[in-house]
Amino acid sequence: QKCPLCKTKTNTVFGVGAQDADIMFIGEAPGENEDLTGVPFVGRAGQLFDKYLEYLGISRTNVYIANILKCKPPKNRDPQSDEQDACIQYLREQVKIIDPKLIVCLGRISALRIIKPDYKITSEHGTFVKKGRYVMTAVYHPSALLRDPKKKDDMLKDMEKIKEYAVKHGLKI
Ligand code: URA
Repeated sequence: QKCPLCKTKTNTVFGVGAQDADIMFIGEAPGENEDLTGVPFVGRAGQLFDKYLEYLGISRTNVYIANILKCKPPKNRDPQSDEQDACIQYLREQVKIIDPKLIVCLGRISALRIIKPDYKITSEHGTFVKKGRYVMTAVYHPSALLRDPKKKDDMLKDMEKIKEYAVKHGLKI
């Protein structure tokens, strides 16, 4: 209840997956379907994301999926920076507990907040960086793929790189 979005949400969308996950995916904020179910990435974007996971043989139950914001912003708008500031501590605690070996930002908003404030998703997606104790990368947000299917080729390559990294480093998938 640290920001006004708690007044308009249906459910808190905290996160889902394995507490000992090696890979943690981080999106931006719950949408309508996530708000109604309390589970991240279950709407159209989430279903598309699931297809990549399934194709690569990555199980949703072995990874962890969360968002920067735990409550749905109105009308599907981007999370505001004051809302991110209010909520980010929950994500920090999640990262500390799960202690993933790879963090994958889903989309620009997440990469800006988690990797660096001048992240350029169009030129930097799919590259791996080390920040503190964590290896991180970012891919296009699945919603961006729905808006612009031409990005799907890049998404597949990036997700394949993530799988390769996981196999090479023995990460649980
Ligand atoms: N988009 C996100 O960033 N997160 C969700 O959980 C759903 C859609």
